[in-house]
Amino acid sequence: MQQVKIHLNEKDIPRQWYNLAADLPTPMLPPLGPDGKPVSPDMLAPVFPMNLIEQEVSSERWIDIPEGILDLLYRWRPAPLRRAVYLEKYLGTPAKIYFKDESTSPPGSHKPNTAVAQAWYNKQFGIKKLTTETGAGQWGSALAFACKLIGLECKVFMVRISFDQKPFRKIMMQVWGANCVASPSPETNAGRRVLKEMPNTPGSLGIAISEAIEEAVTDKSGKTRYSLGSVLNHVLLHQTIIGLEAKKQLKMAGEKLPDIIIGCAGGGSNFAGLSFPFVADKINGADIKIIPVEPTACPTMTRAPFAYDFGDTACTTPLLAMYTLGHSFVPPPIHAGGLRYHGMAPLVCQAIVEGLMKPRAYHQLDSYKAALTWAGTEGFIPAPETSQALAAVIDEANKAKEEGKEKVILFNYSGHGLMDLTGYDAYLGGKLVDYELPEEELQKYTAAIKDHPKAQMRKSGKW
Ligand SMILES: Cc1ncc(COP(=O)(O)O)c(C=O)c1O
Repeated sequence: MQQVKIHLNEKDIPRQWYNLAADLPTPMLPPLGPDGKPVSPDMLAPVFPMNLIEQEVSSERWIDIPEGILDLLYRWRPAPLRRAVYLEKYLGTPAKIYFKDESTSPPGSHKPNTAVAQAWYNKQFGIKKLTTETGAGQWGSALAFACKLIGLECKVFMVRISFDQKPFRKIMMQVWGANCVASPSPETNAGRRVLKEMPNTPGSLGIAISEAIEEAVTDKSGKTRYSLGSVLNHVLLHQTIIGLEAKKQLKMAGEKLPDIIIGCAGGGSNFAGLSFPFVADKINGADIKIIPVEPTACPTMTRAPFAYDFGDTACTTPLLAMYTLGHSFVPPPIHAGGLRYHGMAPLVCQAIVEGLMKPRAYHQLDSYKAALTWAGTEGFIPAPETSQALAAVIDEANKAKEEGKEKVILFNYSGHGLMDLTGYDAYLGGKLVDYELPEEELQKYTAAIKDHPKAQMRKSGKW
């Protein structure tokens, strides 16, 4: 029998995070403030604690993981690396398909890797309460879990469409003691403004972010901060533990480096977490195909311009240089709620501009089909976001079959779908449709950012 599970011991857990910013051949463009000038760390201080801001702007290659955070992570880490031998057999592919199983964390996804780190740093800084947004509910439940373990209050603004589609995620947050409200909500100026204009809006991550930031910065005690589940450099940094573990585990399985790396990308954190430690190898000459996958309904990396834009709808964040559909983009209510963000992590975007990775988009029906193939072979039921990655994995495995090549494919199994069964119900009932963002919509939303400072696409030309 093939080895299908590759485990690391607690003592083998990585003790440092990897920071791709140190190795990118062309550095990212800096975030800009309202005056069009690069933001200084102290300008972010009302929103984040200084210890996390230091990580956000760091150019150190390796950053130590404090013992206090390792103590929290041991609950589910190191996470298993598995080989999808049953899927391989079903497809008849010579490819070897490995996946990092991030669904084994208590909330069921990769999100707690950064949630516990962020909660820990906030607690060290004397913060009492965290606010955040959540799309699919995975991030909200991860932060609720982390705050519970660490002893912080937690308030979550959950995108309306997911709040309605995924009531069990809300209950999980409540079990871990958080206060979860539907966004847009009547509790903030940003929420009230949107509700007045669009009372029936399904909401968006951009709107929910505006609400969560407003609630943090208007707390007069100064003891509330905001926490983001993706996009920012420090979030991606915390997720690199995934790829660093996977590297050790692939070696234990007798593999050198993977030929292909795949992850779904909403704000980019699980994809970056798995791929960045291998991007370092690619920068140093390794031949690895690296594919971030997104939905055709929210085609940020595959169709949107690279531009300076706000991270939220109310324009409260600094301007970030990224692929963006425009901060006022309200995506259609597809079931992969965590992939409905208008922007993308600037670090991932700069790696795309460099040519180090090549994004791809899939329709939701293709990804549900892939999810059912997976559930019928490997057995596990994936999150709708993870299923987007699966669609690409199956395509690449079939391609390896056509070419008769024994490729090593590594992908991130970013979460289970046991709280997302309403999406499966809609798919099985034939109620889901494919959606491709019409060109006029793309033009309409991106027209709103045409006066922002121009973001130069700088690259070394090596890839
Ligand atoms: C299971 C799962 N995978 C992926 C994502 C996408 O987020 P990111 O791109 O930050 O990994 C989410 C977001 O909620 C998620 O819940």
